[in-house]
Amino acid sequence: MFKKSSLYITLTMLIILSTVLSACAPKPTSTATQAPSGSKFEVGIVLPTKDEPRWIQDETRFNDALTKAGYKVQILFSQGNSATEKTNVESLLAQGVKVLIICPQDGAAAAAAVDEAHAAGVKVISYDRLVLNTANVDYYVTFDSVAVGAAQGQYLVDKATGKNNPLYLYAGAASDNNAFLFFQGAWSVLQPKIADGTFVIKNSSEAVGLQSKATLTRDEEGKIIGQVTTDWKFDVAKNLAQANLTAATAADKGNVFILAPNDGTSRSIADTFAADKAVTSYVITGQDAEEPSIQYIIDGKQSMTVLKDVRTLVADAIAAAVAFLKGQTPPQTTTYNNGTADIPAKPSVVITVDQSNVKAAVIDSGYWPAADFKNLP
Ligand code: BGC
Repeated sequence: MFKKSSLYITLTMLIILSTVLSACAPKPTSTATQAPSGSKFEVGIVLPTKDEPRWIQDETRFNDALTKAGYKVQILFSQGNSATEKTNVESLLAQGVKVLIICPQDGAAAAAAVDEAHAAGVKVISYDRLVLNTANVDYYVTFDSVAVGAAQGQYLVDKATGKNNPLYLYAGAASDNNAFLFFQGAWSVLQPKIADGTFVIKNSSEAVGLQSKATLTRDEEGKIIGQVTTDWKFDVAKNLAQANLTAATAADKGNVFILAPNDGTSRSIADTFAADKAVTSYVITGQDAEEPSIQYIIDGKQSMTVLKDVRTLVADAIAAAVAFLKGQTPPQTTTYNNGTADIPAKPSVVITVDQSNVKAAVIDSGYWPAADFKNLP
């Protein structure tokens, strides 16, 4: 069952990628997206930070997809700073890019740079994270982030038996729209199991106050996220987990369940819970299938991750860029409201990975090489 869907995803991805690459194959009379040294880049990419394996992965896979076929693309990193991000965008505009692919550090703060790009006649593709509060985003390339959160919540539900299981909630950065989508998905699955007594929330008074509500408003989500945000940072995650454990009694520990929003924060939170003697076992979520977390899953230190196949996202982003360069419109299956406009998108599917399928999903699929891991099952 799993193998079939994984094969399907791989084949679909290869077909998309080969279509994309043949669509942007160099023609004698056109520069297309090819940029021999000295000539202009037509597509520029801005990613949020090199400090997380997730975005290094995107850089590598963009380079793999484009340079192997003889194309050059310029990728700039904002290093967690919106001012650097704006300078990066301006530098790409000065180089004459026609399409900007941007993953914002801060969704709202990025609007100004995107507006500048639009004013320069550049098409803007929001990549993975949505740029907020501007109508000048032409397309959104993304995974189904609500499904990511639902997969995390479902994993905890599936592993829980009996009543009164301690539940610790953690979230991403409030400046990232995805943090809300992940939390929304997780809450949709966890809330009924909090309401029926399977789980008891241990680290958020705001979440406890809202626990009878099946659907939260964005403001309500914001209140909970305000208490349990990791800001997507390993040290913030670690300090918050430590503070939560210090405040908790031994009765709040034992066999615990932890909603961790992504792999980087999951490893920090897992290490902190593992070091607490009153925690006898823990189930903890993640996402991104980062190599260190795949090793943690093999070693039994992280329970699951959500594989978001970055190769698909990269292929979709390149396909959308090529469509814009050719005056066409990329495929759309839905829209995401960014506070100002409905942005067209075609979200990609995600896969739950734990020890039971890590080899099939991550190694056999060609996502990461077996040689990078120890003690594979
Ligand atoms: C991405 C995640 C990533 C997180 C932290 C989110 O917007 O979707 O894949 O782990 O940011 O960088």
